[in-house]
Amino acid sequence: MKLLYVGDIMGEPGIEVVEQVLPEIVKAESVDIVIAQAENVSQGRGITTADYERLKRLGIDGFSGGNWTMHHKEIYPILNSPQEPITRPANYPSNVPGLGYKYIHKNDLKILFVSLLGNIVGKDAEKPKDNPLTTIDKILQESKTEAPDVIVVNFHGDFSSEKVIIGHYLDGRVSAVVGDHWHVPTADARILPKGTAHISDVGMCGVLNASLGVSLDSVLPRWINNMQTRNILEVAKPWQFNAVLIDTDNPTSARSIKQIQKIF
Ligand SMILES: [Fe+2]
Repeated sequence: MKLLYVGDIMGEPGIEVVEQVLPEIVKAESVDIVIAQAENVSQGRGITTADYERLKRLGIDGFSGGNWTMHHKEIYPILNSPQEPITRPANYPSNVPGLGYKYIHKNDLKILFVSLLGNIVGKDAEKPKDNPLTTIDKILQESKTEAPDVIVVNFHGDFSSEKVIIGHYLDGRVSAVVGDHWHVPTADARILPKGTAHISDVGMCGVLNASLGVSLDSVLPRWINNMQTRNILEVAKPWQFNAVLIDTDNPTSARSIKQIQKIF
């Protein structure tokens, strides 16, 4: 099957990018299933139920999570439901609402997708979380009875060293490991030695000339003199779409992984 993993959908421009670009890619590449990073959808912070429903209507089948996922409390019942295809990081403590992995059924295939949080720079570094590597070990053990046809792991983190390590740690054990959180795509998409597809960071969907989607003017003072400023999302074009297309029918390997970028 052709699985498209779409990078962080950042604010309203990100949603509109998906609206404009996704249909043509799905058609041109014969995409079977679409999973997208949804932690920055609503004004850059988490996702509201309205935006979740809107993106589902645009053709997204699964939604991964990150450090902003818990921002809107209204999404918690949806995060808690095994039937709703949206996850929060699986290595959050068990008292945090939501589920860290879910199953999607598409084209007679059962797809397991998992969200994991890596180490995050800044204030999120202090938040409690379990080890992502031992967490995924437990999930893969638990999922054996379900016998998924495809397993996709999202790794949302800051350190390139950690993003590379988890790719090799899961090589030959899952179909694909896709990193994000940077909002900047890396040029290392490849099939690892034991067959798993991997990329350190898939990039984002939203504006191009900004700091990860936030206006340059609102962010620059922090880098000049540490002045604390409010994030103001940029909306001006050009916009960017970033994703990877993974071809796999196997829970422990993939045939190919290809980066897709559109700037318009
Ligand atoms: Fe993030």
